[in-house]
Amino acid sequence: MKFFIDTANIDEIKEANSMGMVDGVTTNPTLIAKEDGKFEDIIKQICEIVDGPISAEVISLVADGMVAEARKLAGIHKNIAVKIPMTIDGLKAVRTLSSEGIKTNVTLVFSPLQALMAAKAGATFVSPFVGRLDDLSQDGLILVEQIVEIYNNYAFDTEIIVASVRNPLHVLESAMMGADIATIPFNVLKKLAAHPMTDKGIQSFLDDWKKAKK
Ligand code: E4P
Repeated sequence: MKFFIDTANIDEIKEANSMGMVDGVTTNPTLIAKEDGKFEDIIKQICEIVDGPISAEVISLVADGMVAEARKLAGIHKNIAVKIPMTIDGLKAVRTLSSEGIKTNVTLVFSPLQALMAAKAGATFVSPFVGRLDDLSQDGLILVEQIVEIYNNYAFDTEIIVASVRNPLHVLESAMMGADIATIPFNVLKKLAAHPMTDKGIQSFLDDWKKAKK
C-alpha cells in the first residue's frame, strides 16, 4: 500500500519523507490556506521534496475553466496530479485531461457510482472521503470496499486514494481491503507507528541496562 501525506505543511512533509513514508502528497484549498506561502510556491516546494504524485486542486466549477487551470498546474512539474471535483463538468474535464496525458485525482467522492464514473472518464486517481461519511454516521470504509470490488471486476487502472482519513483503523481496514493508497494526515501517521508496549519495552530494557555489567 502506498502512503501519501495529506498536508501542505513543508515541515510535516519533510519529516514524514525522512521516515520513508511519503509516496505522494495530497493538498486541497483548506490545507493550502493553513500555510503561509502562495499556492504555486508551496506546490513547487513540495515537488522538490517528494518524488511522487502531488495533488493540487482546481477552483473552477466549469469544465473549460478546470482544464485551463489543470494545464497550468501540470506545467509546474511532471508529478502533479490535478484534483478535479466529482461533478458532471469534472468528468468532462477529466476526459480531456486524460487524453492529454495529464494526471487527475477525482475528489469529493462519496458513492461507488461516482467512483465508477470517474474511472470511466479516465481518472488516474479517485479519492473517496471516508471520514466525512463517518461524520454522517455512514460507514466510509464500506465505500472503499465497494470501489475496490467494482474496480477489480472491470480491471480499471484508476488507483484508489482513501482520503479524509481520521484514525489508524481507517488505514488498517483500507489496507486489508486492498485500496492502493491512503492519504494520511501527519498526526495519524505518527499514531500508526506508536504502541504502548513498544514504549514499555524500551523503558524496561533501559532500566535493565543500568544493572548490566559493562
Ligand atoms: C485529500 O485528498 C482530502 O482533501 C482530505 O483527505 C480531506 O480530509 P478532511 O475530510 O479531513 O478535510
